[in-house]
Amino acid sequence: MASKININGFFRDTSGLARMVELRQGHLAASPAESDSPDFIHELATRVHPGIMKFQIADIKESSDYTRIYQLIPKEGTIPPFQSGQYMSLRLKIGNSVLTRPYTISSAPFEAEGENPFLEIIVHRSKKGFVPDYLFKHCEIGDTLETSMPFGDFYWEPLRDSKNIVAIAGGSGITPFYSMARELASGKMKGCKMTILYGSTKSDDIMLKDELEELSSTCWDLKIVHMLSDEPNWPGKQGFIDKDVIKRYSTKGCTYMFCGPFAMYGHILNALGDLEIPARRFHHSIISNPDDISLLPGYPEDAIGKTFKITVVRGIQEDVISASAHESVAVALERAAIPVDTRCRNGECGFCRSQLLSGKIFVSPIGDGRRAADIENGGFHPCSSWPLSDLKIKVPIL
Ligand code: FES
Repeated sequence: MASKININGFFRDTSGLARMVELRQGHLAASPAESDSPDFIHELATRVHPGIMKFQIADIKESSDYTRIYQLIPKEGTIPPFQSGQYMSLRLKIGNSVLTRPYTISSAPFEAEGENPFLEIIVHRSKKGFVPDYLFKHCEIGDTLETSMPFGDFYWEPLRDSKNIVAIAGGSGITPFYSMARELASGKMKGCKMTILYGSTKSDDIMLKDELEELSSTCWDLKIVHMLSDEPNWPGKQGFIDKDVIKRYSTKGCTYMFCGPFAMYGHILNALGDLEIPARRFHHSIISNPDDISLLPGYPEDAIGKTFKITVVRGIQEDVISASAHESVAVALERAAIPVDTRCRNGECGFCRSQLLSGKIFVSPIGDGRRAADIENGGFHPCSSWPLSDLKIKVPIL
């Protein structure tokens, strides 16, 4: 027997749908082009994760012959929240190249809020720094600087860390602790005590000496200990920060934080190992690779002084550039004006991730942030990789 089909309901549904479409088109035509109800989620996401931020240089203070403090105020919007110890990646267009360099935010988080928010970065002009030289020579009050949002996981975390902090700094590694010291002195880190052990070669090398002294003179919870390794007439402590010095200023269960040069990092790691400090109580900032990469363990001697060719694939375009063995692949790309998105410049953040199609690279053991899948599939970070042969690489199109 043939089954009976009731088609009345079908026609009712179809005509109802047609009426709904008409109704909807009417509502759409009558609605404003822009949404008039605030999108709180979007606003929050934009505030916390802005793309490129634009700042105006509001002030430049000479802290020493080689050190300048740049005060930056936002040109638009607000400054996203950050933690003492985090950095921003400064983005400079120099000639045809766009260079990015990470700079620690040296002002305190509370100073980036309120009616007159600002940030500070400290630029130290060392013998080899191209970007510090450029900033010293070409950037003046009123100029605009572009930066990324704050990044990095080097900061004091109250849920994880002790309220007693031993901060160990070397050279320009004092900057994250200067930010922490400002936060502490303002009363924002309630119950915390911080001792900064600051190692320098000579008294002229001490950065922010007056600024730190001023803070510690008003804040009982902040203690600064300078140690000089090469100034016999220095009236204060002499020598290197070793396990005895660290032990003297430690308290039970304290948290250790380190920011300083590569050579010092190894000594501090050994000293903390001798004191049997568990890894969970020690945090360190990004450790920069030495200027001479061949000093790192595992670097093959036969690559020293050589020059290689790198074939760079971007979509359907291919360029061949030259690169010397002593410069990272990211530096070679920047020199050839091929854009590469770098932030940490030490293999940590993953922003510069590219693909090695052929050839051999040396990956810095102190900045190898590759995941196992990256290693298997040729993923690598140009910022922490050096060519050991001619290479063919694929980089994202920016
Ligand atoms: S810039 Fe961060 S991994 Fe290369």
